[in-house]
Amino acid sequence: METLQGIKRTHYCGELTEQNIGQPVTVMGWADVYRNLGSLIFIDLRDRTGVIQLSFDNTADKAIFDKAATVRNEFVLAAVGEVVARSAPNPKIKTGAIEIKVSELRILSKAQTPPFAVDDKTDVKDELRLKYRYLDLRRPSMQENLILRHKVAKVARDFYNENGFLEIETPMLTKSTPEGARDYLVPSRVHPGSFYALPQSPQLYKQLLMLSGFDRYIQIVKCFRDEDLRADRQPEFTQIDLEMSFVEIDDVIGINEKMIARVFKEIMDIEITVPFKRITYAEAMERFGSDKPDTRFGLEITNISHLVADCSFGVFANAVKSGGSVRAITVKGGAQSLSRKDLDALGEFVKTYRAKGLAWMVREADNVRSPIAKFFAPEEIEAIFAATEAEVGDALLFVADKDSVVFDSLGALRVELAKRLELIQKGTFDLLWVTEFPLLEYDEEEKRFAAKHHPFTAPMDEDLPYLETNPEKVRAKAYDIILNGCELGGGSIRIFNTELQQKMFEILGFSRDEAWERFGFLMEAFRYGTPPHGGMAYGLDRFIMLLAGCGSIRDVIAFPKVQNASELMSGAPAGVDTKQLEELNIKTITKTEIK
Ligand code: AMO
Ligand code: AMP
Repeated sequence: METLQGIKRTHYCGELTEQNIGQPVTVMGWADVYRNLGSLIFIDLRDRTGVIQLSFDNTADKAIFDKAATVRNEFVLAAVGEVVARSAPNPKIKTGAIEIKVSELRILSKAQTPPFAVDDKTDVKDELRLKYRYLDLRRPSMQENLILRHKVAKVARDFYNENGFLEIETPMLTKSTPEGARDYLVPSRVHPGSFYALPQSPQLYKQLLMLSGFDRYIQIVKCFRDEDLRADRQPEFTQIDLEMSFVEIDDVIGINEKMIARVFKEIMDIEITVPFKRITYAEAMERFGSDKPDTRFGLEITNISHLVADCSFGVFANAVKSGGSVRAITVKGGAQSLSRKDLDALGEFVKTYRAKGLAWMVREADNVRSPIAKFFAPEEIEAIFAATEAEVGDALLFVADKDSVVFDSLGALRVELAKRLELIQKGTFDLLWVTEFPLLEYDEEEKRFAAKHHPFTAPMDEDLPYLETNPEKVRAKAYDIILNGCELGGGSIRIFNTELQQKMFEILGFSRDEAWERFGFLMEAFRYGTPPHGGMAYGLDRFIMLLAGCGSIRDVIAFPKVQNASELMSGAPAGVDTKQLEELNIKTITKTEIK
């Protein structure tokens, strides 16, 4: 094998231009495309900046030509030569007007035939890509994604630094913080039977840093949550996490809008207007059926419960009578764009969100076409058309159920319709804040309240009186930032006194002893002088996914996990030596032994 002795790289492949014509250069990289035309050989050499064509002529130097003839895809080469103009320029490639006439070629590393072609054109199964992730990452699109990730993190860091935020690291081996997911546990060797939890977020530590007087904190930090994977969820992911002292909601929102605007300007060259739209949780649910509404398209939801409470269609009337609702989406031109088959498919779609069915009406010139028309008097139908602003040619889609099911199913149906009807303009970025979230959520299964964000979120001052009498009514000083219908980040102003924090734990069903055992360190700390504080965290992976226009955060993480939380390349998680387990005082048993 040859080495780099005596040569040094002068340029990256993709950075050469016509300006370099006539210059001697040395480039290094991977053989991307190899063409042997008999008397001429062309090799596209690739590095992270792009490709440059190397040319070899058998009338020039036979020894180099013969060496070039042994090159195969993905060989690692160093080439020394002169930049010349191409006789047949290729305008599709950035360096398409030039090539390097090679005078010295070194084969630094040979490559076996890769299990798939390293390019963006070939369709390869995800499993194979991830098993050979290091090859997959050679693809230009993956390189772009990770470079974008680096740039966004850099802009964010610089922005917060300029605004007085200090980067401070918090521990990875921690006591469990409740963010709503299962913890990843790490056994302690020194304390048999005790476990650290990997942080679901640095929440408590960053609050304590405010108490210590650091005033403004930021960290780009790994978080760990043992929850089911989805396109926008990984068991380990990265947050841009921040906290500020002596602030209210508008301060946190204000500075973060500037940060986001800076990212869009510097990285995408897109001007984003600040302030962003703000909508309350209640309005978001009412209009879009979701607390992360995609407002790039209409298809808003109308409540028609009052119009159908006494109608003779039992499904509708009963839903209203039992405390639920009937709501509709108006699809403009739906008479044309939605076939009977589509309507049936949408009916199946909403069932995955627990809806029992999807009723529909199509407004025709002097008529209504609908399987449920027979249950309604003409004036009832008129009233429904008026409320939903349905005109001739429009379709109405209804779900009747308890509110949570109606919102879930119609909220998802909006997005599904927008996809099917191609209502979303590509390349648009729609940002908004959702505010005034409920502080608590009733968990039907556990028969107790759970925190909607986390237990450290402050209630809105004006709702404090309801904390004991009507907890469900209490709104939180919490906010989420939504980008294109995806929860990009969220945060809140925090509780900062022991009594309120203790009351919050009581409402969440912790006994006083349990609360003190788990969170005593925080509640005690509050007694030593605590500044009012608040903050938020972004999902960095999600941010990059949305900026890059990818369908999954997997595409913006170098070595992601798959659905069953394993990492296909290294094979993690894996068994360990008995000796390691003995040192940790751990014995594994099977599921049946547990029972
Ligand atoms: P939250 O739990 O809302 O808040 O998380 C903040 C943001 O992190 C991203 N995120 C994830 N990204 C990928 N995979 C996951 N499994 C995952 N879980 C969350 C989301 C989310 O908006 N400590 C609070 C923040 C605060 O109050 O300051 C917290 O962690 O984009
Ligand atoms: P059925 O009388 O059950 O055959 O239902 C008549 C129509 O109402 C069908 O199109 C069903 O999909 C629809 N439907 C049934 N249950 C509901 C519901 N809870 N909400 C909305 N539509 C429903």
